[in-house]
Amino acid sequence: MSTRILLTGGAGFIGSNFVRFVLRERPDCSIINLDSLTYSGNPESLSDLDGEPRYRFVHGNILDLELTTELIKECDVVVHMAAESHVDRSIIDARPFIESNVLGTQTLLDALRRADPDNTKRFVHVSTDEVFGDLPLDQLEVKFTEATPFAPSSPYSASKAGSDMIVRAYCHTFGINACTTNCSNNFGPYQFPEKVIPLFVTNLIEGKKVPLYGDGKNVRDWLHVEDHCEALLAVLEKGAAGETYCIGGNNERSNLELTHSILAAMGKDESSIEYVTDRLGHDRRYAIDATKIKRDLGWEPTRSAWPGALENTIKWYVENETWWHRVKSGEYLSYYEKQYGGR
Ligand SMILES: NC(=O)c1ccc[n+]([C@@H]2O[C@H](COP(=O)([O-])OP(=O)(O)OC[C@H]3O[C@@H](n4cnc5c(N)ncnc54)[C@H](O)[C@@H]3O)[C@@H](O)[C@H]2O)c1
Repeated sequence: MSTRILLTGGAGFIGSNFVRFVLRERPDCSIINLDSLTYSGNPESLSDLDGEPRYRFVHGNILDLELTTELIKECDVVVHMAAESHVDRSIIDARPFIESNVLGTQTLLDALRRADPDNTKRFVHVSTDEVFGDLPLDQLEVKFTEATPFAPSSPYSASKAGSDMIVRAYCHTFGINACTTNCSNNFGPYQFPEKVIPLFVTNLIEGKKVPLYGDGKNVRDWLHVEDHCEALLAVLEKGAAGETYCIGGNNERSNLELTHSILAAMGKDESSIEYVTDRLGHDRRYAIDATKIKRDLGWEPTRSAWPGALENTIKWYVENETWWHRVKSGEYLSYYEKQYGGR
């Protein structure tokens, strides 16, 4: 039987990769992509799917209870990734993060309850490892697991922790059929060039310097976005209701190491680094112990190994200059207006 997926936030980085991944890997699946097209939602990232019968875009907000109820009725499962996603923006203005990430998730869950009172439809809530706060740099054996208590440190991670807790509460109180995933940093094509890898690569292509926060010693665990998509499919299809799954690449790198790898791959040197004032409250280290998802669902990353995966990602931005130029300049908005009329 074919599975109809309602995806929220599918015009963003992970969402657009997820759409392509699912249509390729699951010929029996179709997707409705509900996205409000904030600055980071770019329908042009999916323009190659124009006319694809298994894909439909709906312009709308997860805060719209009526719309989301109707869309959930049309679908068999929900994958929820719509969110405000950039830590730096949350430091400047936390409000949209609370609105979309907390209230938006709660609204979507209410829509789920209205559309599916028998709790048959699987709901996958896509979250982040940042809800766990940060880890010390000098105890490399310590990693986040599903049992790690929440200790978010930025307005972004606090809003995601709030959304995780509301999902948890709806599982406990109403018995909804939900799973939550907490994933480490993703990299790959179609990422908005405010995030570190596409920002640094596109700056270097433009002959600019790369702004490195603080001492550059902060550590992130990097996962290729297609590995994340595959893990989300595993949770969608095989996850146990009410469970959470940590997803990581087992690929810890300091920001300085990441920067040196990008510089080397692009034939640049140290002189392209501009050390800038550290991000407020900057988390030191994230690292995931992904034992549970490997043991219970048989998933482990296969596409995230460096340097190959990083070099392929850099190559994508080099070869797709038109895409990121238009994103950086906001020109894709005219594509949006042509396709969907007004903003
Ligand atoms: N990027 C990462 O490294 C990473 C890691 C772990 C988890 N996550 C989570 O994965 C999800 C997707 O992240 P991303 O990097 O693709 O983000 P993104 O910013 O590229 O995309 C977010 C998408 O959500 C849409 N959106 C935002 N608010 C909305 C609303 N109220 N209604 C409808 N659509 C809305 C935006 O238009 C955009 O298309 C987020 O929930 C994020 O917290 C991201």
